Amino acid sequence: MRVLSGIQPSGRLHIGNYFGAMRQHLQLQAQNEGFYFIADYHAMTSGPKPADLRANKLAVAMDYLALGLDTEKTVFWCQSDVPQVTELCWILSCVTPKALLERCTTYKDKVAQGLAPNHGLFAYPVLQAADILIFDSNLVPVGADQKQHIEVTRDIAGFFNNTYGETFVLPKDYILASVAVVPGIDGRKMSKSYDNTIEIFEPESSVKKKVMKIVTDSIPVESPKDPDKCNVFALLKLVASPEELKEWDKKYRQGGMGYGDAKKRLAELLIEFFRPYRQKRAELENNVGYVKEVLKKGAERATAVAEKTLKRARVAVGLE
Ligand code: ADP
Ligand code: TRP
Repeated sequence: MRVLSGIQPSGRLHIGNYFGAMRQHLQLQAQNEGFYFIADYHAMTSGPKPADLRANKLAVAMDYLALGLDTEKTVFWCQSDVPQVTELCWILSCVTPKALLERCTTYKDKVAQGLAPNHGLFAYPVLQAADILIFDSNLVPVGADQKQHIEVTRDIAGFFNNTYGETFVLPKDYILASVAVVPGIDGRKMSKSYDNTIEIFEPESSVKKKVMKIVTDSIPVESPKDPDKCNVFALLKLVASPEELKEWDKKYRQGGMGYGDAKKRLAELLIEFFRPYRQKRAELENNVGYVKEVLKKGAERATAVAEKTLKRARVAVGLE
């Protein structure tokens, strides 16, 4: 089965990205054909500074490699190094009803916030559809926020196939309910755009500080608390063993436990969880040439596949 996913280099990767998406990417690569990429064209829709975009692309690559991406087996590249995807995006745009894009929440949210969205943001889901369809992807592992984009991809593939004959494979999303939405330190969805993240590789002292800032309610220490309504508990679920989690569940419900205790333990567990990968991450930082080489080879492998699908689409619509 071909598994494909992308992550925007719009900031440093955080534990929401890891548990919501990257962990599944890394797990799925063993039994499947993994195709993973850094979505730099998509990141442009929010108007990043050129130096930030450049630095974040490399940082995302180093994070993936440090966390265990298998460069022999898995195809790993930077989206803009395979520009065929932008041509397919144009072809798909011409079968995509404008109303379908107007219903997309990423776009609607920006408009609701009073921002003037650029055309790239409006067309964002069409580019994502091109990413997925150009590689004949079967499965797309993502967090819950991406569900709509996969549905739109299926719609667009359906419109195209109905108009021009069977050309594209219809993909399915792969969303694990238990990690679909990892909360940030302010309780909203953890996101690079909300400044509420705990980064995978930020200094351990800063992980501690951020965990201590996680928003909780003001129920006094003595009183019973509901673990299912607590952001700290939601994060503990990601890193504590089932036995330890049961104990915390009991402590919450019994009363007599302060959120500070749970936070201290959470910080320890998060730091322990990612510690084994820090060494490798530091080595990669000193070997940027190697990282760039991996991306270059990945782009060559990805291009070979993309060219074939693009050709199919060009013939189907009559460009050739
Ligand atoms: P961000 O919102 O931080 O910019 P991206 O949009 O680049 O993150 O998302 C990259 C991947 O990580 C996507 O598959 C997305 O669904 C997943 N993801 C991002 N934030 C979370 C979260 N808080 N919980 C679960 N999954 C998430
Ligand atoms: N929109 C995705 C996100 O913000 C990133 C992305 C771009 C993607 N193209 C993709 C994810 C294709 C899966 C498949 O997370």
